[in-house]
Amino acid sequence: MLRMENVNALYGKSHILFDFSIRVDEGELITLLGRNGAGKSTTLSTILGLVPNVDGVIEFNGASLVGMPTHQIAGMGICLIPEQRDIFQILTVEENLQLSIKKGGRWQMSDIYRLFPRLGERKKNGGGQLSGGEQQMLAMARALLNDPKILLCDEPSEGLAPVIVQEIVSTLKEIKDSGIPILLVEQNLKVCEKLADRHYIVEQGKVLHEFKSEDFFTREAIAAKEKYLSV
Ligand SMILES: Nc1ncnc2c1ncn2[C@@H]1O[C@H](COP(=O)(O)OP(=O)(O)O)[C@@H](O)[C@H]1O
Ligand SMILES: [Mg+2]
Repeated sequence: MLRMENVNALYGKSHILFDFSIRVDEGELITLLGRNGAGKSTTLSTILGLVPNVDGVIEFNGASLVGMPTHQIAGMGICLIPEQRDIFQILTVEENLQLSIKKGGRWQMSDIYRLFPRLGERKKNGGGQLSGGEQQMLAMARALLNDPKILLCDEPSEGLAPVIVQEIVSTLKEIKDSGIPILLVEQNLKVCEKLADRHYIVEQGKVLHEFKSEDFFTREAIAAKEKYLSV
């Protein structure tokens, strides 16, 4: 459904992605793994049309995204949950959610409060009063209210306590089980191992390895993890 084929992406003269090829098929959860600076966030920005200089193929359900303005890409249902979570600090949780509701979408407010009971408890709290984990949940909830066809999720577990990471993992699993494909950037290998159908290992803007989840503990995969993921 989402496919990048031999994509090169540059910020000005800085060449960041090199002949980059990945795909996310219907119903899959795919992880992009790699060290800081490997080009993972740039990959998500490139899909969203936020990187100025791109060539190669980027297709969503057969439609080319290269050169398309970001609002139009988002309008196709490609939804980015950025690393910094981007919630409105001065609005309440409920107001943050209401702003994201898309008419006719399949996720209703009641679904959101069932999936994220903490957000129900914090309804009247300001976005700025939430913990890091609650902010991440709010960012995910907002994305769902927008009725995404695919979620691009940038390091959702970053900086969160282990029990909150567990909650994020089970929520991602529920979202995947509801049929929404997910492209997940993640440094936390445990999170990836629990969730993913396939993994791509990225280094210096290149895809070096692809592993199916059942091949992620082979000798070759362990060697790649040791070499490129500092485990
Ligand atoms: N807006 C930008 N302008 C120029 N260079 C950038 C920009 N954003 C990221 N980069 C560079 O692109 C490379 C990949 O960064 P990034 O995609 O953020 O890596 P990751 O998400 O894997 O940590 C880094 O060398 C970074 O300095
Ligand atoms: Mg990043």
